[in-house]
Amino acid sequence: MIQYTVGQIFLGVTDLKIGNVRLSHGLMLAPMAGFSDRAMRVICREWGAEYSVTEMISAKAVTFGDKKTLTLARIGEDEGNVALQLFGSEPDVMARAVEIMSQGVAGYAKPIAIDINMGCPVHKIFSNGEGSALMKSPELIEKIVRAARGATDLPVSVKLRLGVDREHINATECALAAESGGAEFIALHGRTKSEMYSGEADLESIKNVKRALQIPLIANGDIVDADSAVRALSVTGADGIMIGRGAVGNPFIFEEIKAKIEGREFKAPSLEERVTTAIRQLEFAVADKGEAVAIPEARKQSALYLKGFRGAAAIRAEINRATTFEEAKRALLSGIPHGN
Ligand SMILES: Cc1cc2nc3c(=O)[nH]c(=O)nc-3n(C[C@H](O)[C@H](O)[C@H](O)COP(=O)(O)O)c2cc1C
Repeated sequence: MIQYTVGQIFLGVTDLKIGNVRLSHGLMLAPMAGFSDRAMRVICREWGAEYSVTEMISAKAVTFGDKKTLTLARIGEDEGNVALQLFGSEPDVMARAVEIMSQGVAGYAKPIAIDINMGCPVHKIFSNGEGSALMKSPELIEKIVRAARGATDLPVSVKLRLGVDREHINATECALAAESGGAEFIALHGRTKSEMYSGEADLESIKNVKRALQIPLIANGDIVDADSAVRALSVTGADGIMIGRGAVGNPFIFEEIKAKIEGREFKAPSLEERVTTAIRQLEFAVADKGEAVAIPEARKQSALYLKGFRGAAAIRAEINRATTFEEAKRALLSGIPHGN
């Protein structure tokens, strides 16, 4: 049972259980292509994320046994509760991909749930009828979820946006369709597809969807610290929260929110701790993917660990030039003033 209280303020109580896994604080790391890889998931778990989602993976590519796709699907035993996210629009292809991916990649851990992406706004995905384009057809949403459920013993969840645009806000209808198809929970980003990432996440609309559902709803969008987390929970009445960009270069956000919910003081990480954590994440990524892939990929994330600190811009420039782990590490370490 999770009781959300902040000081004297009672925000709500929920029992968030995904399959056999009960979450104590309802804190999830959002799926983010190019970011929520194994390294980020491990580090966020260390700082309090209770659940994370892989980068999105093409259901079709899974059925072809595409090698690069299967690399994205690798989950470590040290990652805790990880859901694997698939995107696709054909129920039979989705079912086959879910069946394959429920076993995990050979030699790696199995996911604890399968999430279906129905919110991606990227043109290539949308124009293919995938991601947020599925919100144009709640019947298809129900079919896809039902097909996925029939292909696995794992829980199946759905990640949605509010609708395709402001004139077509239909997240409640889509979420109910997913619920009818057998979805375990819904994660909802409080923006439409057309809004992409502009403006602010619309918490009132998330609240409306939450009220219509029997299954749990996880609120997502613009949670960047404990205060915005509390606001999202209190306005929406959600059963948990999912954090994306707010955790990039800032895995500490999970501990910050946990402390707030537990009524503890949060001790912000020192600059040394930030740098050490960035280096560990980089080290992990290099061990997982090799330097040639990991270093260019991790640049943005590494640099964000130092955001707001003196000299951050110069260090970012240096990280951008780095091609090896040692160079990137040296750049990060230069952020710690001597004798500090
Ligand atoms: C770089 C990037 C990649 C993303 N990739 C995915 C993805 O693969 N699957 C998905 O469902 N959402 C994806 N998202 C959306 C996030 O999961 C999340 O819904 C969105 O960023 C809003 O939450 P935030 O404000 O906490 O970042 C991505 C977002 C970003 C910024």
